[in-house]
Amino acid sequence: MDRTAQLTAPAVPHTVVYEPDTATHPLHVRAARVLADNWTGASTVPSHGLYPHQWSWDSAFIAIGLRHLSPLRAQTELETLLDAQWGDGRIPHIVFNPSVPLDAYFPSPDFWRSSTAGRAAGAPRTVQTSGIVQPPVHALAAWLVHRADPGLSRARGFLTRVYPRLAAWHRYLLHRRDLGGAGLASVVHPWEQGMDNSPSWDLPLSRVTPAPARSFRRADLAHGAPEDRPTDLDYGRYVRLATDYRDGEYADGDGEFAVEDPAFNALLIASEHALARIARELGAPGTARHARAERLTTALVERLWDPAEGMFFCRDVREGGLIPERGVSGLIPLLLPGLPRETTAALIRTTTGPHFGLGSTTRLVPSYDLLGEAFDPHRYWRGPAWFNTAWLMERGLRTHGEHERADALRRAVLATADSSDFAEYVDPYTGEACGATGFSWTAALTLDLLHDDSMHSTGHVTDVRGGNRG
Ligand code: SER
Repeated sequence: MDRTAQLTAPAVPHTVVYEPDTATHPLHVRAARVLADNWTGASTVPSHGLYPHQWSWDSAFIAIGLRHLSPLRAQTELETLLDAQWGDGRIPHIVFNPSVPLDAYFPSPDFWRSSTAGRAAGAPRTVQTSGIVQPPVHALAAWLVHRADPGLSRARGFLTRVYPRLAAWHRYLLHRRDLGGAGLASVVHPWEQGMDNSPSWDLPLSRVTPAPARSFRRADLAHGAPEDRPTDLDYGRYVRLATDYRDGEYADGDGEFAVEDPAFNALLIASEHALARIARELGAPGTARHARAERLTTALVERLWDPAEGMFFCRDVREGGLIPERGVSGLIPLLLPGLPRETTAALIRTTTGPHFGLGSTTRLVPSYDLLGEAFDPHRYWRGPAWFNTAWLMERGLRTHGEHERADALRRAVLATADSSDFAEYVDPYTGEACGATGFSWTAALTLDLLHDDSMHSTGHVTDVRGGNRG
């Protein structure tokens, strides 16, 4: 890819888009303040203490909320991330801020060594990044950001500049990461899927020899309660996988860990639909991309759907077979408009049934099976509820015409964001805050749901193709 072209265009004056009544809502004002505090001038940190750099999927969700405050800032958020894209198309999961001390976050730039170990894969020279990726929410975010202020977007050539980057990103995932050979993308590290500590990884991770505890120093425990965070043994395995990937110069192929994950692939499909809309906006036909998204949806159902359990599961590409752990990831394909009707109906039954309890025992969808042996209401991705998954489920419910359930979830998200001070994650039963507070994507997605209220009441339908919403 030609990295000489500067992605970031000169700024032009922009209008701040507020719906007058929503903008004065106290929750809007507080959410906007969180995003202002976490803004660093060109992007937003997830939280200053625990995550002091730019994170890939966080930035996509943050942009979706920022578009209601400043479409220019939302565009800039995505442009800054895309400026750190590698030549092979990957978007790194962290873009490091050089002014943050090395020991503020582990693994730091001197662990990843992107500019040397990533040279063959085309890592940028001017900025340090990690070498793994995160879920591809970016094209969906870019389309929603464009829709918030199409005039500004056209004046700045926003879509014209981001489209080739996003297309290269999807090419990387669909070709280099098709490790199972069925068309779906695989993740090669639990951090890539974003739900780091999910019990779905326990089986494939158990084969990985942990790096010795004395060989690294965790920084996360300085900011989060140890009982809310992954264990040292998990960290040893994360470090081993990342070290091996780095030492192989970030080449994709035969690493120990390779998993096809339902949420990662559902987001890729949703983003592929969004990319088709972007292509059309730029005057090219989007038909081939929509068709590819439909083919991927078929592959997702064929590879990862379990009709007896009524949900999607992760596939262990190395050993073969589905991993029998119920995680929220297996519900997120509800986002997709092209699912078979019986699949959609079963997913809604599972979401509201005893394993996830939405609308009866839980406030937001838990990250893991309430009845599962590994369930823990407070530990990172082993039970608590997150706001980004709630936002995706709200969108999924609405996509399939489940407006009452979507409205109830939306109300629960807003109330819980408010009472938890925009927590990173919460106890799914009580809404008690876990992890960091003042967490950026919680604030951003709160703003998005607040602003979408008027659309819901006028009967607009959510569509991941980007049709009416946004
Ligand atoms: N989520 C991971 C962390 O806790 C890596 O992105 O650091």
